Amino acid sequence: MRLSAVKGTFDILPDDQPRWRHLLDTTARVLGRAGVDEITTPIFEHREVFEKSVGESADLVVQKEMYTFQDRGGRWLTLRPEFTAGVLRAFIEHGMHTWPSPVKLWSAGPAFRAENVQRGRFRQFHQVNCELLGGDSALLDAEAIALLVDTLSAAGLPGVHVKVGSVGDPEDRERYNGYLREALAPFERELSDTSRERLRLNPMRILDSKDAGDQALVAELLRPLDMLGNAARGHFDEVLAALERWGITYEVESAIVRGLDYYRRTAFEVHHAGIGAQSALGGGGRYDGLIAKLGGPDVPGVGWAFGIERVLDALSGEGVGPVERRRPLAYLVALDAEAVGELAALARRLRAEHRVEHSYTPRNPGKGLRDADRSGARLAVLRGSRERAAGVVMLKDLRTGDQQSLDLSELPDALRRSAGASQDDSARLAATRDH
Ligand code: HAM
Repeated sequence: MRLSAVKGTFDILPDDQPRWRHLLDTTARVLGRAGVDEITTPIFEHREVFEKSVGESADLVVQKEMYTFQDRGGRWLTLRPEFTAGVLRAFIEHGMHTWPSPVKLWSAGPAFRAENVQRGRFRQFHQVNCELLGGDSALLDAEAIALLVDTLSAAGLPGVHVKVGSVGDPEDRERYNGYLREALAPFERELSDTSRERLRLNPMRILDSKDAGDQALVAELLRPLDMLGNAARGHFDEVLAALERWGITYEVESAIVRGLDYYRRTAFEVHHAGIGAQSALGGGGRYDGLIAKLGGPDVPGVGWAFGIERVLDALSGEGVGPVERRRPLAYLVALDAEAVGELAALARRLRAEHRVEHSYTPRNPGKGLRDADRSGARLAVLRGSRERAAGVVMLKDLRTGDQQSLDLSELPDALRRSAGASQDDSARLAATRDH
């Protein structure tokens, strides 16, 4: 039997890692400057954490998309389909409502949804998630959106498309859902199966249907934004005003509907032309009432998540980010058995400063140099009986072909000089790219 990865999961290979790391480093830097600290929560939680938070009708997530299982102790556990619920569970458990407010937290890691696999839609995927907890001011909604835009921009996607809407307060949603139920009841049989189920559970989600028949049925109907109460309307206007003041371009989306149930008032998404119109890079919104629903104090919050794979897909489409794999500065070639041990020990010492690799078996000079070349090293260091007798190594610059015999004690300095020169090269390269 040939083993393969589970459908909808994938390996992140060494060549993909620099881009991945660049995105996370950028995220940590941009969010850190805004006072957002990192939190790591478990990958699985008690099933109730998600059942209570994402909601019964949430895009069928609870019924169909969660990986829920019973462990040997008979406990029901769920692999997180998203981060918000776990972060809020931690907020409550550690009494973070007593910390200076707002409490700002970001996380990154895998999430799991048993979805139909397609481009940008996986069963194990990764998110960067950010939550701002403890304020109901519209300024925090705007800050959340700005942080998402700023993070993506700093990572190399300056032109994302922001869509902002409002799903209103609970009573507005109730009113709107009642309106949709009434308007669509006569056409129930014409709706797609999913939308028929949504008509029962959460009619608003029908607006998000990709089915052409459903879309035609709702085309002329009022949108959630048309039926906002005064409080939600005022809040929404303040969010937009702040975005305008900060020069963040956005589009008002009157029918923004998110796949999760917990949103109140502001909801937003960020799209990018490069990855297909249907899929969002990220999204989020305000979820006042959710912490209380999970058994905590009634603290309001707003947040977002972006899909790391989707952002990387967009970045590679733009040709952005470091794509080069890290290469060793030096590759040590052992020309006889004794040199294998000597060079392994030498490599350990040199690794305090540089990336250094070596041969594990004796090689002849031709094969050894080919190994060094394949590793991508800048320098090859050769040692055999002749070098040992003279107390030297042979140092070869693989780019220029220059080679010299060097006293062993001089090697660290020679590597340092060469590493400095490589850094100058990349700085020059980066400078030419930037202009
Ligand atoms: P979400 O819209 O469900 O929101 O997911 C956010 C992002 O995660 C999506 O825009 C997408 O980029 C990525 N994503 C979701 N599902 C998949 C999948 N199956 N494969 C690949 N990427 C995917 C949330 O998860 C909310 N917790 C965001 C939030 C935080 N709201 C408030 N705070």
